[in-house]
Amino acid sequence: MSAEQRVDDAMLGDFDTAHRALAERAREVLESNWLGHATRPAAGLYPHQWSWDAGFIAIGYARFDTRRAAAELRSLFRGQWSDGMLPHIVFNGGGESYFPGPDYWGTERSPYAPPRPRTSGIVQPPIHATAALRTFRHATDRDTARALLEELMPKLAAWHGYLHRERVRPGIGLVEIWHPWESGMDNSPLWDEALSRIVPARVRDWVRADLDHADPAERPTDEDYLRYLHLVDLFRELSYDPERIRAATPFAVADVLMNTLWVQANRDLASIADIIGADGSRFTAWADEAAAAMGEICWDDTLDVFVDFDLVAGAPICTRVGAAFAPLFAGIPDADQARRMVRRLHDEVGEHLGATTWMVPSFDPSEPGFMPTNYWRGPVWINVNWVLYQGLRRYGYHVEAASLRASLLALAERSGFFEHYDPVTGNGHGADRFAWTAALVLDLLFESGADDARTA
Ligand code: SER
Repeated sequence: MSAEQRVDDAMLGDFDTAHRALAERAREVLESNWLGHATRPAAGLYPHQWSWDAGFIAIGYARFDTRRAAAELRSLFRGQWSDGMLPHIVFNGGGESYFPGPDYWGTERSPYAPPRPRTSGIVQPPIHATAALRTFRHATDRDTARALLEELMPKLAAWHGYLHRERVRPGIGLVEIWHPWESGMDNSPLWDEALSRIVPARVRDWVRADLDHADPAERPTDEDYLRYLHLVDLFRELSYDPERIRAATPFAVADVLMNTLWVQANRDLASIADIIGADGSRFTAWADEAAAAMGEICWDDTLDVFVDFDLVAGAPICTRVGAAFAPLFAGIPDADQARRMVRRLHDEVGEHLGATTWMVPSFDPSEPGFMPTNYWRGPVWINVNWVLYQGLRRYGYHVEAASLRASLLALAERSGFFEHYDPVTGNGHGADRFAWTAALVLDLLFESGADDARTA
């Protein structure tokens, strides 16, 4: 047993017996997904490194293994493009089967893509500055963690610079996504209408690898994939040039979760700049700009939540998804909006799921299209619930936060570390032994539940 491992054991030993066992199981899931340089989300279905997964995984490791958290982020940024773009997949060289793989993406068409490692050509939500700051704040060895911040600062600044330069239209103030995969919530009902306007140019002449590893009933449909690949084909033909994509894309959405994480990541990058003595004022300005734009463009005074905005149709997307509550995380709502959001959460969560389970599904269970086991069309995802937990605490809703934390921990204890869970039965679905679920359960275990209860 290494010295590092003994430190981990000592730290995990602070939990009571049940939570210690859960923490050990979670750590074992993370370890089993460690590739030697980074953590894959899950065996089979997701064999490479994904961008926002890496951020959430680093957030878990930050609590007990600074070096691993640092390795996750360093590995991801090896795939960063020279224009600052941080791609959503960094492929391993090992040839593991995944579709669409590096040859399909063909990112060598862009002058900005690195020759190695090979990557995809789109982004995912910017959780990375938040993960880096948490790695510093929880580190026992502050010197090592500070060195990490110094190393990451220019890379994070370039990443945020790309998003602000290429993804924020003048007069809008919000970051936009050009592909459902960029939201991380691939087949969310949020995108149904925007995708329905896309007429796929090609017939199906490819084979999906995901269906070898997952139940097709829990995955996006072939019709979805036709449209996902239509967009990839377009971006590849445009050599992944942001200016040309912005002018041509039939899919452009200002998404609430993406912008929430963008606001918080800018605040956290400004804090990182402070810590290392750099100037972070532009990141604060970008956070303020997006937070104000969310108040103006995304707040829905009838639904009492923030909603996405379809930039192609020029209209809001009033679909009732769990991520609509995310802005609490970044301090975006005012106190009255927050109160209305939490009341709405009580109605949606309490009414449909019963008083004993307090978790937020990805899609409102009262909607006709609710599918409790299909990917982003109903299941509970741990990362969105983790974001909501932090948001509830931020606004002083400690009773709700404590209920959410207890429910999430009980879910993992009972059903294991799945990609997502049926909100009605609590059974796990999608990939088993899913890395960010394990990482965020660890983070929640390290949060003091006693604090929630005391201030309740
Ligand atoms: N989430 C996508 C997949 O299922 C791609 O990022 O492969």
